[in-house]
Amino acid sequence: MLFVLRIRSKTKTHASHTFVSHQYAVLNQVTAGTIALVDMNAEKLDGEAKDLAQGSAFHQHVRIEASSDYSVSAKSHLVIVTAGVAQKVGESRLALIEKNVEIMKNIIPNVLKHSPNAAICIVSNPCDIMTAVASKVAGPSIPAGRIFGSGTCLDSSRLQSLLAKGLGIDAQSVSGYVIGEHGDSSVAVWSSVRVGGVPILKDVTKPPSDMLNAMHREVIDSAGDVIVKKGYTNWAVGLAGAYIAKNVLDDTRQIMPLTTCVRGLHGIEEDIFLSMPCSVGSHGVRRVIDIPLTQYETDAFLKSAEAVWEIQKGVWDDIS
Ligand SMILES: NC(=O)c1ccc[n+]([C@@H]2O[C@H](COP(=O)([O-])OP(=O)(O)OC[C@H]3O[C@@H](n4cnc5c(N)ncnc54)[C@H](O)[C@@H]3O)[C@@H](O)[C@H]2O)c1
Repeated sequence: MLFVLRIRSKTKTHASHTFVSHQYAVLNQVTAGTIALVDMNAEKLDGEAKDLAQGSAFHQHVRIEASSDYSVSAKSHLVIVTAGVAQKVGESRLALIEKNVEIMKNIIPNVLKHSPNAAICIVSNPCDIMTAVASKVAGPSIPAGRIFGSGTCLDSSRLQSLLAKGLGIDAQSVSGYVIGEHGDSSVAVWSSVRVGGVPILKDVTKPPSDMLNAMHREVIDSAGDVIVKKGYTNWAVGLAGAYIAKNVLDDTRQIMPLTTCVRGLHGIEEDIFLSMPCSVGSHGVRRVIDIPLTQYETDAFLKSAEAVWEIQKGVWDDIS
């Protein structure tokens, strides 16, 4: 879990691969007064905190605190939750549910006890369902949007990076969204993709070409590919987390795809948690941007919602 704070403030994380990459990216990119790290594995946590602190001569001044006691995270402005079991080679994110639901039930009350007003960003997988679980555990007194997931922010970056590589340009010249599940049923919104401001599709009524579908497939498979090769993913998700942290702590209202409740969009009648472009600020997701989708993209989004709800509803109804 990662807690990010800012100006006299804090951010929080766990001593996991994901946690450490978040810390590292936050240290280099985000103005946070204090970063507090919390993990149940006290020894590993101490090792990670010392390793990070020993480089403090080389980054902006940040106080690094670490403890297995949640009081170290008190008064955080942003909490990033990365605790939980991770995928093994060939395993789907959905296979992690049972263990990570229990972990979330343990973490969220502790976080809220010490930082009742923090924005909370869930990274643990399956990210959409864990965000739903965290929101349900937190209860209706926590305003909608305060708890959100990193969702397809990372998938969108993967798509932008692939397109940029193919075109031989900088990834920041490519904009566009992957929405829906952070997982197999995600939707590449090709009608939203712009290169240097120019739409890449001439005719949005046609289904995406085989080449575009293959690129989207590569995005979906990219975490599995990295896990086969190095055992886990951490750097890209850490950078995504730091990007989210910066925009939350600076209250920028930047728009990025994040996991939030999408009830009401495209006729969805359940509290399904999925990624859509959202404006983000110091209190988390401020509003969901209902971007125009082609019929093809709408159908795919609704299929993604169905796939997530199929799993979410089982755990959702079990949390009182
Ligand atoms: N959303 C994304 O894009 C994305 C990307 C990478 C990883 N992840 C997810 O992040 C999670 C962590 O992955 P990892 O590779 O860092 O795993 P990891 O095994 O390296 O670390 C998990 C950490 O969680 C800690 N932990 C477990 N239960 C806890 C609890 N109740 N309280 C406090 N700490 C607890 C463990 O001690 C461990 O340090 C996984 O669910 C993984 O799938 C998500």
